[in-house]
Amino acid sequence: MSSIPYLRAAGTSLVLDARGTGVPVIVHWGADLGDLSGEMLAVLADASVPAIPPSSIDLPLRLTLLPTVSDGWSGRPGISGFRFSEGGGGGLRGGGGAAAADLDLRLAGVGPVSVRSGDAVSPGTQALAISLTDAAAELAVRTDLELSVEGVLRLRHTLTNTAATAPFELGSLDVILPVPGRAREILDFTGLWTHERRPQRALLGQGVWSRESRHGRPGHDDPYLSVAGTPGFGFRTGETWATHLAWSGDKRVWAENSPLGYSVLGSGELLAPGDVRVAPGASHTTPWTVAVYSAAGLDGLSARLHPWIRSWSTLSGAASGPRPVVLNTWEAVYFDHDLPTLTRLADAAAAVGVERFVLDDGWFTGRTDDRRALGDWFVDPVAWPDGLHPLVDHVRAAGMDFGLWIEPEMISLDSDVARAHPDWVLGPAGSRGSAGPRSSLPSSALTWRFQRVLDLSNPDAAAWVFDRLAALLAEYPIAYLKWDHNRDLLAGSAHRQTAALYRLLDRVRAAHPGVEIESCASGGARIDLGILERVDRVWTSDTNDPLERQQIQRYTSVLVPPEYLGGHLGAATAHTTGRTSELSFRLATALFGSAGIEWDLTRAIESERAQIADWITRYKQLRGLLHTGTIVRADPSDPALELHGVVSPDRAAAVFAYVALAAPRSALPERLRFPGLAPELTYRVEPLTIGAPPRVIQDAPPAWLAGGGSFGAAGAGAGAAAGAGAGAGAGAGAGGGGGGAVTLTGGVLAQVGLPAPLLAPEQAAVYTVTAVE
Ligand code: DGJ
Repeated sequence: MSSIPYLRAAGTSLVLDARGTGVPVIVHWGADLGDLSGEMLAVLADASVPAIPPSSIDLPLRLTLLPTVSDGWSGRPGISGFRFSEGGGGGLRGGGGAAAADLDLRLAGVGPVSVRSGDAVSPGTQALAISLTDAAAELAVRTDLELSVEGVLRLRHTLTNTAATAPFELGSLDVILPVPGRAREILDFTGLWTHERRPQRALLGQGVWSRESRHGRPGHDDPYLSVAGTPGFGFRTGETWATHLAWSGDKRVWAENSPLGYSVLGSGELLAPGDVRVAPGASHTTPWTVAVYSAAGLDGLSARLHPWIRSWSTLSGAASGPRPVVLNTWEAVYFDHDLPTLTRLADAAAAVGVERFVLDDGWFTGRTDDRRALGDWFVDPVAWPDGLHPLVDHVRAAGMDFGLWIEPEMISLDSDVARAHPDWVLGPAGSRGSAGPRSSLPSSALTWRFQRVLDLSNPDAAAWVFDRLAALLAEYPIAYLKWDHNRDLLAGSAHRQTAALYRLLDRVRAAHPGVEIESCASGGARIDLGILERVDRVWTSDTNDPLERQQIQRYTSVLVPPEYLGGHLGAATAHTTGRTSELSFRLATALFGSAGIEWDLTRAIESERAQIADWITRYKQLRGLLHTGTIVRADPSDPALELHGVVSPDRAAAVFAYVALAAPRSALPERLRFPGLAPELTYRVEPLTIGAPPRVIQDAPPAWLAGGGSFGAAGAGAGAAAGAGAGAGAGAGAGGGGGGAVTLTGGVLAQVGLPAPLLAPEQAAVYTVTAVE
């Protein structure tokens, strides 16, 4: 391996300068630099050495793979820690002082390593290992670095304590990557329950923009993906550099911009004192930081991330086929489990084409509400005197498979298991909150949704959960587990709990490879690439309100491919917001993910059921495309309007949704310019009815939509007849997408586009785009 390693894949490259004895310098991470000879790489590395500014260290400051104060690095260091030694502790050398300042890591080796494809390693991945040692500090660090064929870079460190007797307390061990000064705008995410993945942007000043999660899970306000880009970058435009920590516990991610001239993105696990005490001879490995560059905005990031994630071999056997249409019972019946009701629901589900029936919370001993019984994973003999058999048999006889909800990481204080094993409850005994007297137990732990956390790092507690799951999976033909997690930790060690969760999930996956798992955390509070390696689907959000969902799905899918993202058709009036939406808007929204239903279908009227059945037929026709294609999102000039779609890998077919989130700003909205098509191919663009035609507010549709055909030609409502400005309401059909079709080249469709219909607020028009001879 050259001492200037140069990795390239899919338009991305990385150059390290590993000459000399210091920690290798990151010369470049970003666009592919083309074929460069060793000589040229040396010139590049030399030419990249910056000036020495006044009042600074007497050497040029260069960002290494593990920057510390001892390099002159005054930004956040890559490592901090504390050496325990006889007669007291101190910094890294045991002599007191700031930890990072004491470290003097030297390069011990750099070279390619062979990685076996599998899990999260795609075939063709280039991998490099860099070994560093500090003999005096008695520490060694190995940095693993991989560049996948899709252009996804990932890095992690392994720290080894080479001391004979003294443990080493790790404070932080992070991945820090350079971004150029022009990447001045930062985008990351925040959110709330039922409002996850709200984007927030800022122009970076000098200093640190830091986001921390102490939820014991990423949380509803998870920063999710940190994107630094050229100001104004969008879905399709601008250069972007993004990082994500593949970890489901606490974390710290940041962007730092210094007057000394460097800009970086940093990420790592947020460790608490005592979380990682590395024993002599032992090692600690950090989670992976996933890093992606794109010259074409956020879509360019997804275009690298999605194929990479799709190349993993982590799905359960069943999930690698088409994603089935699910009916989940939660918003249909909540805790009200009753066999006749549920069998009627199963019949209604089967009749519209549902393929999987998932029994949500409420089936286990004494679980009549959310205040009790978590941990008592036995089928409730009162609600289910014959066990789940009659329901499971009925579901399977109706041609569906059966899924079951469980919340393995939690425990109710009011449960047999907590009474028998109070020491399995994470944190202090007793509770503060609604499940316990606050005043009498001032130091006890908080409840959240009336529940506490099961200490999975206790092997007996973990074994209990594993055995109960194994017993349920042995007794019933369960194809799918919805694995829920409904509170922040707020006690114990997030590090140990997350590591124990991963061990448990890995064990369950190994023992039951055919069982699919959906990860849910009060909706989308734990969606990260650490959990994604261990599950087949994530519950994107607890809201089924399509207006909220449009935004949540739009941004969650920047990182996670849509087939992983559960999206359900809910009731007309959303349970989480009280907002009422039309069926067609709810259907068009749920189409673009792993689709399902969460609604008491037995209350749906005949015409609604017919529309749902038709939607399911369309979903089954389209899911091959929706779940393997490239996500594309036009940059809207009107924030009320969005155009998003999925284009097949060979660009021969696509499906788009044009969505009005609110009233458009203009009576003649911006044209529909379809991104992602092959410019030289000729395509036929046609409206596709999902449910009913969308409502439009226009006297006549754009010419290309005016013909008869699949979308219904006549505007049936007032809008079609009312004069402009009458404000008389909206018409269905004509021009909502409706009726016509047009055949044009991909280049014309992208550059010139087509006049858009004037959608009423909260409507979506769906179009298929198919290459023709
Ligand atoms: C929270 C989940 O996000 C819901 O979908 C549902 O499963 C409930 N928990 C059940 O308690």
